[in-house]
Amino acid sequence: MPDSKPAVGLEGVVAAQTRLSLVDGQNGVLVIAGFPVEEIAPKASFEEMVFLLWNDRLPNARELEDLRRELASLRTLPVATTRLLRDAAAQKAPVIDALRMAASTLSLRAHGETESTDPRRDAKAVVARFPVIVASYWRLLEGKEPIPADPGLGHAANFLFMLQGKAPSPERARALETYLNTVSDHGFNASTFTARVIVSTGSDVVSAITGAIGALKGPLHGGAPGPALDMVFEIGEKARAEEVLRAKLARGERLMGFGHRVYKVRDPRADVLNGAAKALYKGDADKRLYDLATHVEATALRLLEEHKPGRSLKTNVEFYTALVLHGIELPTDLFTPCFAIGRVAGWTAHGFEQQALGKLIRPQSEYVGPRDRKYAPLERRS
Ligand code: ACO
Repeated sequence: MPDSKPAVGLEGVVAAQTRLSLVDGQNGVLVIAGFPVEEIAPKASFEEMVFLLWNDRLPNARELEDLRRELASLRTLPVATTRLLRDAAAQKAPVIDALRMAASTLSLRAHGETESTDPRRDAKAVVARFPVIVASYWRLLEGKEPIPADPGLGHAANFLFMLQGKAPSPERARALETYLNTVSDHGFNASTFTARVIVSTGSDVVSAITGAIGALKGPLHGGAPGPALDMVFEIGEKARAEEVLRAKLARGERLMGFGHRVYKVRDPRADVLNGAAKALYKGDADKRLYDLATHVEATALRLLEEHKPGRSLKTNVEFYTALVLHGIELPTDLFTPCFAIGRVAGWTAHGFEQQALGKLIRPQSEYVGPRDRKYAPLERRS
């Protein structure tokens, strides 16, 4: 038997070194490839962020243009992917499940796409095609036909175009880009760890991101922003915040958008997204929702401190994610898929880092069951 107690949930265990992101939970700091999140996320385009994560530096103008053009050229889906999305829509499968199923088909080439010798082809294809899958699937669910991509639009703007049928305002495209950048990477979170474990076996990028989506969809990881917004809507007006939140805590429910495994202070991403939400919510109706949300946040923080004194349950990224994505008129069903559209940049980058490391991830478990059971024939079992 090992002397020390195993770290249940691998809490606090360092499983690898990475140059991709630093998550300092004690001080509320997130650094992505050397840039504090508040420095890079509101300024960079998503394509710049992808280049940064894949190459450990920002691109020059020509490199950025090349990546933009390449990603835009990969937006057509393989025929099998579109067929799968139509079948999934007929069965009204949740969007994140449709994305997971469709992601696994991305090893296939689209019609007219030539075989590639580029070792990063699969990573480029999944980054380029995630938003296309989500937008196309959402339209199919609504009984509409998918809209072809606009190669003239950037990654974020094209997603909104394919979803909403019109090119977004620069403010909306910026807000989405800030969101995607903010969630693009975050240390060894559950989905990234999943992706790295898969790549560490010598498996491929498409397998890794398919597994990662499965890990992301749970409410303890990426499934929280929808419920966080539902909670704000359920409260409806400031005067009801305390009563509704107290009742939830008394029933043993978790307040969505609060608490984090690593951050013991406010999640720095919440501030970046609060800034993006504030810039987006300019009209009176929007401002009412924004004010209500900030009131709900303050009340939740006070009640959580009362409920779990000293636990330091603070606002996490999901709370303001909900406000930003709602502000650009994304339905809540698209919140977690949208998280995947941003995080796939990090998953693929971790895949490259893991490949370069070339070491199998294989922890041990501590067996706590019996050792000397005897096999009883079926007829002797009760
Ligand atoms: N509301 C109420 N109580 C909470 C909350 C919350 N949001 N978060 C944690 N607690 C309580 C737990 O009930 C637990 O209490 P106990 O020790 O008396 O049983 C204690 O605080 C510690 O909780 P754990 O689940 O052990 O902490 P862990 O570090 O494993 O969990 C997690 C972190 C899963 C994010 C948790 O805080 C949570 O469920 N939050 C709500 C869901 C959410 O917002 N998820 C998004 C996370 S951000 C992301 O993944 C991108």
